Amino acid sequence: MSTQPAEPMPPGPSSVEHALEVRGLTKRFGALVVLRGIDLVLRQGEVLGLVGDNGAGKSTLVKILCGFQQQDGGEVIVGGEPVRFHSVQAARAHGIETVYQDLALIPQLPVYLNLFLGHELTKLGPLRFLDKQAMRKLARQYLDEIKVRVPSLEAEAEQLSGGQRQAVAVARAVRAAPKILLLDEPLAAMGARESRLIIDLVKDLASSGRVSIIVIDHNYAHLFELCDRINVMQGGRITTDQPVHETSLEGLTELMVSNFRRELDDLSNAGA
Ligand SMILES: Nc1ncnc2c1ncn2[C@@H]1O[C@H](COP(=O)(O)OP(=O)(O)OP(=O)(O)O)[C@@H](O)[C@H]1O
Ligand SMILES: [Mg+2]
Repeated sequence: MSTQPAEPMPPGPSSVEHALEVRGLTKRFGALVVLRGIDLVLRQGEVLGLVGDNGAGKSTLVKILCGFQQQDGGEVIVGGEPVRFHSVQAARAHGIETVYQDLALIPQLPVYLNLFLGHELTKLGPLRFLDKQAMRKLARQYLDEIKVRVPSLEAEAEQLSGGQRQAVAVARAVRAAPKILLLDEPLAAMGARESRLIIDLVKDLASSGRVSIIVIDHNYAHLFELCDRINVMQGGRITTDQPVHETSLEGLTELMVSNFRRELDDLSNAGA
């Protein structure tokens, strides 16, 4: 895998071939500059893996793309249209669904209502009622279909294990039939069975070609199984952009380790 910085994005009109484009995105928290100009392209129907050290800014990027946080500068373009999302609902309206690393579900809501979060079914009447019966039935069918096991549909999310919660969160995002799916460490808390299940679910979804996916995972073997391309995030920028067939698990590991060694050298030189 090359250690060359990614080529800067050519200026010019964005392409509708691209589900999503990010240009020069910046974000700081007080004095801490996290994103220094992210340039990234997600093509229609592809799975893009995003890797980077802890604190590199991956989740911050996801939170901006899904409207949970706002950027300081730079552009986000969805399906050729420049957008600026001020809420998660606004991003959802553009077909963007997210599985967050740390805010997967609403703890006090039962599983079946979490599964319909933001897309609740209602009964028509003088007032719109939540159609809980229909949601329970569909939730059961859907979870059975994708083989996700939970103790009970009525269980509050906070009563689930971390892995079960993550599985329901992925199921929820997939059920919403998004155009763009953002998965921030969806497998982090999962055992082998659930990981396999979610990997297969995402692969199935990707093979339909109708959804474009960004997935963050520190396990490179998962990424090599899932992704078409991998981007490396470092120092607030994308420093490597490569198709998986042009690299290998060993190549990526070597790159990340050599980056880490270089940072250590820089630190010790700065201290000398
Ligand atoms: N709301 C916030 N307020 C202040 N600092 C924040 C906030 N959110 C993130 N940060 C800081 O921004 C940096 C990037 O955090 P982020 O969560 O994006 O990293 P990450 O690449 O997702 O890391 P990890 O692999 O550990 O999940 C970190 O130094 C973090 O402490
Ligand atoms: Mg993160």
